[in-house]
Amino acid sequence: MAAFNTLRASLFGLLLLLLCTSPASAYNRRACQAPTRNPLNGCPHGTLLVGPAQKFTSVQAAVLSLGNATTAATILILPGNYTEQVNATRQGPLTLLGQTSHPNDATKNTVNILWHNATGTATTGTYDNAYTSVLTIAPTFNASATGSGPSGTPVEAGTPFGNYNFRVYNLNLINDYLPYSAGPSLALSMSYANAGFYYSQFLSYQDTVYVGKLGNAYMYGCIVGGQTDFFYGFGTLWVTDSQIELRGCGGGITAWKGTNTSFVNHYGVYIHNGVVEKANTTLNITHQCALGRPWNAQHRSIFANNYLDDSIKPSGYIQWSATDPRVNFNTTMAEYKDFGPGFNLTGRLEASNTTIEMTPEQYSLYDIPAKVFQCPSGEFGNVAWIDQHPQA
Ligand SMILES: *[C@@H]1O[C@H](CO)[C@@H](O)[C@H](O)[C@H]1NC(C)=O
Ligand SMILES: *[C@@H]1O[C@H](CO)[C@@H](O)[C@H](O)[C@H]1NC(C)=O
Ligand SMILES: *[C@@H]1O[C@H](CO)[C@@H](O)[C@H](O)[C@H]1NC(C)=O
Ligand SMILES: *[C@@H]1O[C@H](CO)[C@@H](O)[C@H](O)[C@H]1NC(C)=O
Ligand SMILES: *[C@@H]1O[C@H](CO)[C@@H](O)[C@H](O)[C@H]1NC(C)=O
Ligand SMILES: *[C@@H]1O[C@H](CO)[C@@H](O)[C@H](O)[C@H]1NC(C)=O
Ligand SMILES: *[C@@H]1O[C@H](CO)[C@@H](O)[C@H](O)[C@H]1NC(C)=O
Ligand SMILES: *[C@@H]1O[C@H](CO)[C@@H](O)[C@H](O)[C@H]1NC(C)=O
Ligand SMILES: *[C@@H]1O[C@H](CO)[C@@H](O)[C@H](O)[C@H]1NC(C)=O
Ligand SMILES: *[C@@H]1O[C@H](CO)[C@@H](O)[C@H](O)[C@H]1NC(C)=O
Ligand SMILES: *[C@@H]1O[C@H](CO)[C@@H](O)[C@H](O)[C@H]1NC(C)=O
Repeated sequence: MAAFNTLRASLFGLLLLLLCTSPASAYNRRACQAPTRNPLNGCPHGTLLVGPAQKFTSVQAAVLSLGNATTAATILILPGNYTEQVNATRQGPLTLLGQTSHPNDATKNTVNILWHNATGTATTGTYDNAYTSVLTIAPTFNASATGSGPSGTPVEAGTPFGNYNFRVYNLNLINDYLPYSAGPSLALSMSYANAGFYYSQFLSYQDTVYVGKLGNAYMYGCIVGGQTDFFYGFGTLWVTDSQIELRGCGGGITAWKGTNTSFVNHYGVYIHNGVVEKANTTLNITHQCALGRPWNAQHRSIFANNYLDDSIKPSGYIQWSATDPRVNFNTTMAEYKDFGPGFNLTGRLEASNTTIEMTPEQYSLYDIPAKVFQCPSGEFGNVAWIDQHPQA
Protein backbone atom coordinates (compact mmCIF):
# COMPACT_ATOMS: atom_id res chain seq x y z
CA MET A 1 0.00 0.00 0.00
CA ALA A 2 2.81 2.38 0.95
CA ALA A 3 4.63 1.49 -2.25
CA PHE A 4 1.44 2.07 -4.23
CA ASN A 5 0.97 5.46 -2.58
CA THR A 6 4.57 6.38 -3.35
CA LEU A 7 4.10 5.33 -6.96
CA ARG A 8 0.85 7.24 -7.16
CA ALA A 9 2.47 10.33 -5.63
CA SER A 10 5.36 10.21 -8.07
CA LEU A 11 3.04 9.70 -11.06
CA PHE A 12 0.96 12.62 -9.86
CA GLY A 13 4.15 14.69 -9.55
CA LEU A 14 5.14 13.71 -13.09
CA LEU A 15 1.69 14.66 -14.38
CA LEU A 16 1.94 18.06 -12.69
CA LEU A 17 5.41 18.57 -14.11
CA LEU A 18 4.26 17.65 -17.65
CA LEU A 19 1.23 19.91 -17.42
CA CYS A 20 3.43 22.66 -16.09
CA THR A 21 6.01 22.39 -18.85
CA SER A 22 4.01 21.59 -21.98
CA PRO A 23 4.13 24.51 -24.43
CA ALA A 24 1.06 25.85 -26.24
CA SER A 25 0.67 24.97 -29.90
CA ALA A 26 1.97 27.49 -32.41
CA TYR A 27 -0.33 29.58 -34.62
CA ASN A 28 -0.24 33.03 -36.20
CA ARG A 29 -1.69 35.26 -33.50
CA ARG A 30 -1.75 38.40 -35.66
CA ALA A 31 -3.70 36.60 -38.40
CA CYS A 32 -6.21 35.13 -35.95
CA GLN A 33 -6.85 38.47 -34.22
CA ALA A 34 -7.08 40.57 -37.39
CA PRO A 35 -10.61 41.66 -38.33
CA THR A 36 -11.36 39.70 -41.51
CA ARG A 37 -14.52 38.62 -43.32
CA ASN A 38 -14.30 35.26 -41.64
CA PRO A 39 -13.09 36.32 -38.19
CA LEU A 40 -11.69 32.84 -37.50
CA ASN A 41 -9.21 33.01 -40.40
CA GLY A 42 -5.77 32.14 -39.09
CA CYS A 43 -7.04 30.81 -35.77
CA PRO A 44 -6.33 27.36 -34.35
CA HIS A 45 -8.84 24.72 -35.48
CA GLY A 46 -11.89 24.70 -33.21
CA THR A 47 -11.49 28.27 -31.95
CA LEU A 48 -14.74 29.53 -30.41
CA LEU A 49 -16.09 32.92 -31.42
CA VAL A 50 -17.73 35.35 -28.99
CA GLY A 51 -19.56 38.45 -30.14
CA PRO A 52 -22.87 40.19 -30.49
CA ALA A 53 -25.14 38.00 -32.68
CA GLN A 54 -22.73 35.03 -32.49
CA LYS A 55 -23.46 31.60 -31.02
CA PHE A 56 -21.71 32.79 -27.85
CA THR A 57 -22.63 36.31 -26.80
CA SER A 58 -20.68 36.15 -23.54
CA VAL A 59 -17.17 35.00 -22.78
CA GLN A 60 -18.46 32.98 -19.82
CA ALA A 61 -20.80 30.96 -22.06
CA ALA A 62 -17.89 30.04 -24.34
CA VAL A 63 -15.70 29.06 -21.36
CA LEU A 64 -18.47 26.91 -19.85
CA SER A 65 -19.06 25.14 -23.17
CA LEU A 66 -15.53 23.74 -22.93
CA GLY A 67 -16.34 21.86 -19.72
CA ASN A 68 -13.39 20.27 -17.97
CA ALA A 69 -11.75 18.74 -21.03
CA THR A 70 -7.97 18.91 -20.76
CA THR A 71 -7.49 19.66 -24.45
CA ALA A 72 -6.18 23.10 -25.41
CA ALA A 73 -8.80 25.66 -26.44
CA THR A 74 -8.87 29.17 -27.90
CA ILE A 75 -11.61 31.79 -27.70
CA LEU A 76 -11.65 34.83 -30.02
CA ILE A 77 -13.73 37.80 -28.83
CA LEU A 78 -15.13 40.38 -31.26
CA PRO A 79 -15.02 44.11 -30.42
CA GLY A 80 -17.50 45.26 -27.82
CA ASN A 81 -18.32 45.91 -24.22
CA TYR A 82 -19.18 42.71 -22.37
CA THR A 83 -20.69 43.30 -18.93
CA GLU A 84 -20.11 39.98 -17.19
CA GLN A 85 -17.96 38.06 -14.76
CA VAL A 86 -15.80 35.36 -16.31
CA ASN A 87 -14.82 32.38 -14.15
CA ALA A 88 -12.48 29.70 -15.47
CA THR A 89 -11.93 26.49 -13.50
CA ARG A 90 -10.72 24.12 -16.23
CA GLN A 91 -7.17 22.72 -16.17
CA GLY A 92 -6.73 22.43 -19.94
CA PRO A 93 -4.79 25.22 -21.67
CA LEU A 94 -7.03 28.15 -22.57
CA THR A 95 -6.22 31.26 -24.61
CA LEU A 96 -8.52 34.31 -24.77
CA LEU A 97 -7.88 36.68 -27.68
CA GLY A 98 -9.41 40.09 -28.32
CA GLN A 99 -9.90 40.93 -31.99
CA THR A 100 -7.58 43.77 -33.01
CA SER A 101 -5.49 45.16 -35.84
CA HIS A 102 -2.92 46.24 -33.24
CA PRO A 103 -1.99 43.02 -31.42
CA ASN A 104 1.12 44.58 -29.84
CA ASP A 105 -0.53 47.71 -28.43
CA ALA A 106 -2.72 47.56 -25.31
CA THR A 107 -3.88 51.15 -25.79
CA LYS A 108 -5.79 50.11 -28.95
CA ASN A 109 -7.69 47.12 -27.54
CA THR A 110 -11.29 46.83 -28.76
CA VAL A 111 -12.68 44.38 -26.20
CA ASN A 112 -13.73 45.55 -22.74
CA ILE A 113 -15.00 43.12 -20.13
CA LEU A 114 -16.73 45.16 -17.45
CA TRP A 115 -18.03 44.50 -13.98
CA HIS A 116 -18.97 46.80 -11.12
CA ASN A 117 -18.55 45.43 -7.63
CA ALA A 118 -16.56 46.10 -4.48
CA THR A 119 -16.36 45.01 -0.87
CA GLY A 120 -15.64 47.32 2.02
CA THR A 121 -16.66 50.81 2.97
CA ALA A 122 -18.87 51.63 0.00
CA THR A 123 -20.91 48.42 0.09
CA THR A 124 -23.37 46.70 2.35
CA GLY A 125 -23.13 43.06 3.30
CA THR A 126 -20.11 40.95 4.06
CA TYR A 127 -18.62 38.93 1.27
CA ASP A 128 -15.17 38.01 0.11
CA ASN A 129 -13.20 40.09 -2.40
CA ALA A 130 -13.41 37.01 -4.67
CA TYR A 131 -17.00 37.95 -5.51
CA THR A 132 -15.98 41.27 -7.03
CA SER A 133 -13.57 40.16 -9.76
CA VAL A 134 -14.11 40.60 -13.50
CA LEU A 135 -11.99 37.54 -14.43
CA THR A 136 -11.32 34.68 -12.00
CA ILE A 137 -8.97 31.81 -12.78
CA ALA A 138 -9.07 29.24 -9.96
CA PRO A 139 -10.20 25.63 -9.47
CA THR A 140 -12.75 26.40 -6.72
CA PHE A 141 -14.32 29.38 -5.01
CA ASN A 142 -12.42 28.73 -1.77
CA ALA A 143 -9.11 28.61 -3.65
CA SER A 144 -9.91 32.10 -4.97
CA ALA A 145 -11.00 33.64 -1.66
CA THR A 146 -8.80 36.25 -0.04
CA GLY A 147 -10.06 35.67 3.49
CA SER A 148 -8.29 37.36 6.37
CA GLY A 149 -5.50 36.68 8.81
CA PRO A 150 -2.07 35.31 8.01
CA SER A 151 -3.26 32.43 5.83
CA GLY A 152 -6.68 33.60 4.61
CA THR A 153 -9.57 31.24 3.89
CA PRO A 154 -8.34 27.66 4.19
CA VAL A 155 -8.26 25.75 0.94
CA GLU A 156 -9.48 22.17 1.36
CA ALA A 157 -6.82 19.49 1.27
CA GLY A 158 -6.85 17.76 -2.11
CA THR A 159 -7.99 20.84 -4.03
CA PRO A 160 -6.49 20.31 -7.48
CA PHE A 161 -4.37 22.93 -9.21
CA GLY A 162 -6.52 24.92 -11.67
CA ASN A 163 -5.34 26.02 -15.09
CA TYR A 164 -1.74 25.19 -16.02
CA ASN A 165 -1.50 27.42 -19.08
CA PHE A 166 -3.98 30.28 -19.31
CA ARG A 167 -3.21 33.11 -21.76
CA VAL A 168 -4.94 36.42 -22.37
CA TYR A 169 -4.11 38.78 -25.24
CA ASN A 170 -5.58 42.24 -25.90
CA LEU A 171 -8.43 42.31 -23.41
CA ASN A 172 -9.35 45.19 -21.10
CA LEU A 173 -10.65 43.99 -17.73
CA ILE A 174 -12.40 46.86 -15.98
CA ASN A 175 -14.06 46.96 -12.56
CA ASP A 176 -15.60 50.43 -12.48
CA TYR A 177 -17.59 50.20 -9.26
CA LEU A 178 -16.73 53.81 -8.33
CA PRO A 179 -14.20 56.21 -9.88
CA TYR A 180 -12.05 56.22 -6.73
CA SER A 181 -10.81 53.80 -4.12
CA ALA A 182 -13.84 52.65 -2.08
CA GLY A 183 -12.97 49.09 -1.11
CA PRO A 184 -11.52 46.09 -2.90
CA SER A 185 -12.77 45.87 -6.51
CA LEU A 186 -10.84 43.25 -8.45
CA ALA A 187 -10.26 43.17 -12.20
CA LEU A 188 -8.30 39.91 -11.98
CA SER A 189 -8.28 37.12 -9.42
CA MET A 190 -6.12 34.08 -9.99
CA SER A 191 -5.11 31.31 -7.61
CA TYR A 192 -3.84 27.72 -7.95
CA ALA A 193 -3.09 28.53 -11.61
CA ASN A 194 -0.45 29.65 -14.13
CA ALA A 195 -1.54 32.56 -16.32
CA GLY A 196 0.12 34.97 -18.76
CA PHE A 197 -1.37 38.31 -19.80
CA TYR A 198 -0.15 40.15 -22.88
CA TYR A 199 -1.10 43.63 -24.15
CA SER A 200 -4.04 43.70 -21.76
CA GLN A 201 -5.42 46.34 -19.41
CA PHE A 202 -6.50 45.92 -15.78
CA LEU A 203 -8.36 48.90 -14.38
CA SER A 204 -10.01 49.61 -11.04
CA TYR A 205 -9.02 51.68 -8.02
CA GLN A 206 -8.34 49.23 -5.20
CA ASP A 207 -6.92 45.69 -5.13
CA THR A 208 -7.12 45.58 -8.93
CA VAL A 209 -4.87 42.56 -9.51
CA TYR A 210 -5.05 39.67 -7.03
CA VAL A 211 -2.56 36.84 -7.39
CA GLY A 212 -3.63 34.46 -4.67
CA LYS A 213 -2.42 31.21 -3.23
CA LEU A 214 -0.22 29.14 -5.55
CA GLY A 215 -0.88 31.73 -8.26
CA ASN A 216 1.83 32.24 -10.92
CA ALA A 217 1.12 35.25 -13.11
CA TYR A 218 3.14 36.94 -15.85
CA MET A 219 2.31 40.24 -17.56
CA TYR A 220 3.96 41.72 -20.65
CA GLY A 221 3.05 44.93 -22.48
CA CYS A 222 0.14 45.54 -20.12
CA ILE A 223 -1.43 48.64 -18.56
CA VAL A 224 -2.46 48.40 -14.91
CA GLY A 225 -4.33 51.36 -13.43
CA GLY A 226 -5.23 51.76 -9.76
CA GLN A 227 -4.98 53.81 -6.62
CA THR A 228 -4.72 51.64 -3.48
CA ASP A 229 -2.78 48.38 -2.98
CA PHE A 230 -3.58 47.55 -6.56
CA PHE A 231 -1.22 44.61 -6.86
CA TYR A 232 -1.93 42.33 -3.92
CA GLY A 233 -1.75 38.68 -3.06
CA PHE A 234 0.00 35.61 -1.73
CA GLY A 235 1.40 34.26 -5.00
CA THR A 236 4.04 35.19 -7.56
CA LEU A 237 3.63 37.94 -10.17
CA TRP A 238 6.16 39.11 -12.76
CA VAL A 239 5.27 42.31 -14.64
CA THR A 240 7.55 43.46 -17.44
CA ASP A 241 7.57 46.14 -20.14
CA SER A 242 4.27 47.48 -18.80
CA GLN A 243 2.74 50.77 -17.68
CA ILE A 244 1.60 51.26 -14.08
CA GLU A 245 -0.92 54.12 -14.09
CA LEU A 246 -1.54 55.92 -10.79
CA ARG A 247 -5.18 57.05 -10.63
CA GLY A 248 -4.58 58.52 -7.16
CA CYS A 249 -2.52 57.48 -4.13
CA GLY A 250 -3.59 55.18 -1.28
CA GLY A 251 -1.79 52.43 0.58
CA GLY A 252 0.90 51.40 -1.87
CA ILE A 253 1.12 50.16 -5.44
CA THR A 254 1.98 46.71 -4.03
CA ALA A 255 0.77 44.96 -0.86
CA TRP A 256 1.96 41.37 -0.57
CA LYS A 257 1.58 38.66 2.02
CA GLY A 258 3.71 35.60 2.68
CA THR A 259 2.11 32.56 4.33
CA ASN A 260 2.67 28.86 4.71
CA THR A 261 0.61 28.41 1.55
CA SER A 262 2.97 30.60 -0.45
CA PHE A 263 5.79 28.67 -2.07
CA VAL A 264 8.58 28.60 0.39
CA ASN A 265 10.90 31.14 -0.95
CA HIS A 266 10.24 33.15 -4.08
CA TYR A 267 6.62 34.33 -3.96
CA GLY A 268 6.25 38.08 -4.39
CA VAL A 269 5.66 40.77 -7.01
CA TYR A 270 8.43 41.72 -9.42
CA ILE A 271 7.97 44.79 -11.62
CA HIS A 272 10.57 45.23 -14.35
CA ASN A 273 11.48 47.61 -17.19
CA GLY A 274 8.25 49.54 -16.82
CA VAL A 275 6.91 53.03 -16.45
CA VAL A 276 5.22 54.11 -13.22
CA GLU A 277 3.37 57.38 -13.74
CA LYS A 278 0.28 59.43 -12.91
CA ALA A 279 -2.67 58.42 -15.07
CA ASN A 280 -3.03 61.97 -16.33
CA THR A 281 -1.53 65.37 -15.73
CA THR A 282 -4.57 66.77 -13.94
CA LEU A 283 -3.90 64.53 -10.92
CA ASN A 284 -2.17 66.42 -8.11
CA ILE A 285 -0.18 63.59 -6.54
CA THR A 286 3.40 64.87 -6.70
CA HIS A 287 5.65 62.86 -4.33
CA GLN A 288 2.61 61.25 -2.65
CA CYS A 289 2.35 57.66 -3.91
CA ALA A 290 4.18 54.73 -2.26
CA LEU A 291 5.70 51.84 -4.19
CA GLY A 292 4.18 49.47 -1.67
CA ARG A 293 3.41 48.58 1.90
CA PRO A 294 3.56 45.23 3.70
CA TRP A 295 0.25 43.36 3.87
CA ASN A 296 2.20 41.24 6.30
CA ALA A 297 5.85 41.30 7.32
CA GLN A 298 6.66 38.60 4.76
CA HIS A 299 5.86 41.06 1.96
CA ARG A 300 8.22 40.76 -1.00
CA SER A 301 8.26 43.18 -3.93
CA ILE A 302 11.01 44.42 -6.18
CA PHE A 303 10.77 47.30 -8.64
CA ALA A 304 13.71 46.94 -11.04
CA ASN A 305 14.84 49.17 -13.91
CA ASN A 306 11.62 51.20 -13.97
CA TYR A 307 11.10 54.85 -14.86
CA LEU A 308 9.30 56.47 -11.92
CA ASP A 309 7.61 59.81 -12.48
CA ASP A 310 7.38 62.45 -9.76
CA SER A 311 4.25 60.87 -8.23
CA ILE A 312 6.44 58.57 -6.13
CA LYS A 313 7.24 59.43 -2.51
CA PRO A 314 10.87 60.19 -1.62
CA SER A 315 10.85 57.18 0.74
CA GLY A 316 9.71 54.77 -2.00
CA TYR A 317 7.93 52.25 0.21
CA ILE A 318 6.04 52.92 3.44
CA GLN A 319 5.08 50.93 6.51
CA TRP A 320 1.57 49.43 6.69
CA SER A 321 0.53 52.15 9.16
CA ALA A 322 2.12 54.15 11.94
CA THR A 323 0.57 52.02 14.67
CA ASP A 324 1.03 48.70 12.83
CA PRO A 325 4.23 48.94 10.76
CA ARG A 326 4.53 45.23 9.81
CA VAL A 327 8.18 45.70 8.91
CA ASN A 328 10.82 43.27 10.19
CA PHE A 329 13.91 41.46 8.95
CA ASN A 330 11.78 39.23 6.73
CA THR A 331 10.27 42.15 4.81
CA THR A 332 11.58 42.72 1.29
CA MET A 333 10.43 46.07 -0.08
CA ALA A 334 13.13 46.55 -2.64
CA GLU A 335 14.28 48.40 -5.71
CA TYR A 336 17.07 47.85 -8.18
CA LYS A 337 18.20 50.55 -10.62
CA ASP A 338 14.93 52.49 -10.76
CA PHE A 339 15.33 55.97 -12.22
CA GLY A 340 13.43 59.17 -13.06
CA PRO A 341 12.10 62.02 -10.90
CA GLY A 342 10.39 59.57 -8.54
CA PHE A 343 13.72 58.00 -7.62
CA ASN A 344 15.18 60.04 -4.74
CA LEU A 345 18.23 58.28 -3.33
CA THR A 346 18.45 60.64 -0.35
CA GLY A 347 14.83 59.95 0.52
CA ARG A 348 15.30 56.22 0.07
CA LEU A 349 18.32 56.10 2.36
CA GLU A 350 16.53 58.13 5.06
CA ALA A 351 13.74 55.52 5.00
CA SER A 352 16.18 52.65 5.14
CA ASN A 353 13.99 50.59 7.47
CA THR A 354 11.52 50.23 4.63
CA THR A 355 13.01 50.63 1.16
CA ILE A 356 15.94 48.36 0.32
CA GLU A 357 18.27 49.39 -2.50
CA MET A 358 19.46 45.97 -3.67
CA THR A 359 23.02 45.09 -4.57
CA PRO A 360 23.61 43.16 -7.81
CA GLU A 361 24.21 40.05 -5.69
CA GLN A 362 20.90 40.43 -3.83
CA TYR A 363 19.03 41.15 -7.05
CA SER A 364 20.56 38.19 -8.89
CA LEU A 365 18.33 35.81 -6.90
CA TYR A 366 15.27 37.30 -8.61
CA ASP A 367 16.42 38.63 -11.98
CA ILE A 368 14.61 36.27 -14.38
CA PRO A 369 11.17 34.60 -14.28
CA ALA A 370 12.69 31.11 -14.09
CA LYS A 371 14.15 32.04 -10.67
CA VAL A 372 10.84 33.01 -9.10
CA PHE A 373 8.17 30.75 -10.59
CA GLN A 374 7.77 27.28 -9.20
CA CYS A 375 5.61 24.44 -10.54
CA PRO A 376 3.13 22.74 -8.22
CA SER A 377 5.51 19.77 -8.36
CA GLY A 378 8.11 21.96 -6.66
CA GLU A 379 10.30 22.50 -9.72
CA PHE A 380 11.79 25.91 -10.39
CA GLY A 381 12.49 27.12 -13.89
CA ASN A 382 9.62 25.46 -15.79
CA VAL A 383 8.03 28.47 -17.42
CA ALA A 384 6.71 26.95 -20.66
CA TRP A 385 3.34 28.55 -19.85
CA ILE A 386 4.95 31.96 -20.46
CA ASP A 387 4.90 33.29 -24.04
CA GLN A 388 8.59 34.13 -24.49
CA HIS A 389 7.95 35.95 -27.79
CA PRO A 390 4.65 37.75 -27.31
CA GLN A 391 5.09 40.19 -30.23
CA ALA A 392 2.72 39.00 -32.96
C1 LIG B 1 -15.65 20.91 -13.71
O1 LIG B 1 -15.00 20.65 -12.50
C2 LIG B 1 -15.46 21.49 -11.42
C3 LIG B 1 -14.58 21.25 -10.22
O2 LIG B 1 -14.35 19.89 -10.02
C4 LIG B 1 -16.94 21.20 -11.16
O3 LIG B 1 -17.41 22.04 -10.14
C5 LIG B 1 -17.71 21.47 -12.43
O4 LIG B 1 -19.05 21.12 -12.25
C6 LIG B 1 -17.14 20.68 -13.61
N1 LIG B 1 -17.79 21.16 -14.82
C7 LIG B 1 -18.21 20.36 -15.76
C8 LIG B 1 -18.85 21.02 -16.94
O5 LIG B 1 -18.11 19.16 -15.69
C1 LIG C 1 -17.63 50.55 -25.17
O1 LIG C 1 -18.04 51.57 -24.27
C2 LIG C 1 -17.27 52.76 -24.44
C3 LIG C 1 -17.63 53.72 -23.32
O2 LIG C 1 -18.96 53.66 -23.00
C4 LIG C 1 -17.55 53.33 -25.81
O3 LIG C 1 -16.79 54.52 -26.01
C5 LIG C 1 -17.13 52.31 -26.86
O4 LIG C 1 -17.46 52.77 -28.14
C6 LIG C 1 -17.80 50.99 -26.63
N1 LIG C 1 -17.18 50.01 -27.52
C7 LIG C 1 -17.86 49.28 -28.39
C8 LIG C 1 -17.05 48.40 -29.29
O5 LIG C 1 -19.06 49.30 -28.42
C1 LIG D 1 -21.47 42.44 -5.33
O1 LIG D 1 -21.58 41.02 -5.34
C2 LIG D 1 -22.12 40.49 -4.15
C3 LIG D 1 -21.99 38.97 -4.21
O2 LIG D 1 -22.57 38.47 -5.38
C4 LIG D 1 -23.56 40.97 -4.00
O3 LIG D 1 -24.09 40.47 -2.79
C5 LIG D 1 -23.55 42.48 -3.98
O4 LIG D 1 -24.87 42.95 -3.96
C6 LIG D 1 -22.84 43.05 -5.19
N1 LIG D 1 -22.69 44.48 -5.01
C7 LIG D 1 -23.03 45.35 -5.95
C8 LIG D 1 -22.78 46.78 -5.61
O5 LIG D 1 -23.49 45.02 -7.02
C1 LIG E 1 -18.13 33.85 -10.70
O1 LIG E 1 -17.72 33.54 -9.39
C2 LIG E 1 -18.24 34.43 -8.40
C3 LIG E 1 -17.66 34.03 -7.08
O2 LIG E 1 -17.99 32.70 -6.80
C4 LIG E 1 -19.76 34.35 -8.39
O3 LIG E 1 -20.27 35.28 -7.48
C5 LIG E 1 -20.27 34.66 -9.77
O4 LIG E 1 -21.66 34.46 -9.80
C6 LIG E 1 -19.62 33.76 -10.80
N1 LIG E 1 -20.03 34.20 -12.10
C7 LIG E 1 -20.36 33.36 -13.07
C8 LIG E 1 -20.77 33.99 -14.34
O5 LIG E 1 -20.30 32.14 -12.92
C1 LIG F 1 -15.09 26.93 1.83
O1 LIG F 1 -14.57 27.51 3.00
C2 LIG F 1 -15.58 27.76 3.98
C3 LIG F 1 -14.94 28.61 5.08
O2 LIG F 1 -13.73 28.07 5.49
C4 LIG F 1 -16.13 26.45 4.46
O3 LIG F 1 -17.13 26.66 5.43
C5 LIG F 1 -16.75 25.72 3.26
O4 LIG F 1 -17.18 24.44 3.64
C6 LIG F 1 -15.74 25.59 2.13
N1 LIG F 1 -16.42 25.14 0.92
C7 LIG F 1 -16.13 24.01 0.30
C8 LIG F 1 -16.91 23.72 -0.93
O5 LIG F 1 -15.24 23.27 0.66
C1 LIG G 1 -7.51 61.70 -14.64
O1 LIG G 1 -7.53 60.48 -13.92
C2 LIG G 1 -8.47 60.45 -12.86
C3 LIG G 1 -8.29 59.13 -12.13
O2 LIG G 1 -8.45 58.05 -12.99
C4 LIG G 1 -9.88 60.61 -13.42
O3 LIG G 1 -10.80 60.66 -12.35
C5 LIG G 1 -9.96 61.89 -14.22
O4 LIG G 1 -11.22 61.95 -14.84
C6 LIG G 1 -8.87 61.91 -15.27
N1 LIG G 1 -8.89 63.21 -15.93
C7 LIG G 1 -8.77 63.33 -17.24
C8 LIG G 1 -8.78 64.73 -17.77
O5 LIG G 1 -8.65 62.37 -17.98
C1 LIG H 1 -0.96 26.95 7.49
O1 LIG H 1 -1.21 27.45 8.80
C2 LIG H 1 -2.55 27.27 9.22
C3 LIG H 1 -2.75 27.94 10.57
O2 LIG H 1 -1.80 28.89 10.82
C4 LIG H 1 -2.82 25.77 9.31
O3 LIG H 1 -4.18 25.59 9.68
C5 LIG H 1 -2.58 25.13 7.94
O4 LIG H 1 -2.73 23.75 8.03
C6 LIG H 1 -1.19 25.44 7.42
N1 LIG H 1 -1.08 24.97 6.05
C7 LIG H 1 0.00 24.37 5.57
C8 LIG H 1 -0.03 23.98 4.12
O5 LIG H 1 0.99 24.16 6.25
C1 LIG I 1 -1.79 69.87 -4.75
O1 LIG I 1 -1.74 69.20 -3.48
C2 LIG I 1 -0.98 69.92 -2.53
C3 LIG I 1 -0.81 69.03 -1.31
O2 LIG I 1 -1.95 68.24 -1.06
C4 LIG I 1 -1.70 71.24 -2.24
O3 LIG I 1 -0.94 71.98 -1.30
C5 LIG I 1 -1.80 72.04 -3.53
O4 LIG I 1 -2.55 73.21 -3.33
C6 LIG I 1 -2.48 71.23 -4.63
N1 LIG I 1 -2.37 71.93 -5.88
C7 LIG I 1 -3.38 72.02 -6.73
C8 LIG I 1 -3.10 72.76 -8.00
O5 LIG I 1 -4.46 71.51 -6.51
C1 LIG J 1 11.08 35.38 9.66
O1 LIG J 1 10.64 34.23 8.95
C2 LIG J 1 11.03 33.01 9.55
C3 LIG J 1 10.62 31.88 8.63
O2 LIG J 1 9.25 31.98 8.30
C4 LIG J 1 10.37 32.90 10.93
O3 LIG J 1 10.78 31.71 11.55
C5 LIG J 1 10.82 34.10 11.77
O4 LIG J 1 10.12 34.09 12.98
C6 LIG J 1 10.51 35.41 11.05
N1 LIG J 1 11.09 36.51 11.77
C7 LIG J 1 10.35 37.52 12.20
C8 LIG J 1 11.09 38.61 12.93
O5 LIG J 1 9.14 37.57 12.02
C1 LIG K 1 14.47 63.93 -1.78
O1 LIG K 1 14.16 63.47 -0.48
C2 LIG K 1 14.67 64.31 0.53
C3 LIG K 1 14.42 63.61 1.86
O2 LIG K 1 13.07 63.32 2.05
C4 LIG K 1 13.97 65.68 0.43
O3 LIG K 1 14.48 66.55 1.41
C5 LIG K 1 14.21 66.27 -0.95
O4 LIG K 1 13.45 67.44 -1.11
C6 LIG K 1 13.81 65.27 -2.03
N1 LIG K 1 14.21 65.78 -3.32
C7 LIG K 1 13.36 65.87 -4.34
C8 LIG K 1 13.93 66.39 -5.60
O5 LIG K 1 12.19 65.52 -4.24
C1 LIG L 1 11.20 53.12 10.67
O1 LIG L 1 11.36 54.51 10.44
C2 LIG L 1 10.27 55.28 10.91
C3 LIG L 1 10.46 56.70 10.43
O2 LIG L 1 11.81 57.07 10.54
C4 LIG L 1 10.21 55.16 12.43
O3 LIG L 1 9.12 55.91 12.93
C5 LIG L 1 9.98 53.68 12.78
O4 LIG L 1 10.02 53.48 14.16
C6 LIG L 1 11.03 52.80 12.15
N1 LIG L 1 10.57 51.42 12.30
C7 LIG L 1 11.37 50.40 12.58
C8 LIG L 1 10.74 49.05 12.67
O5 LIG L 1 12.58 50.55 12.75
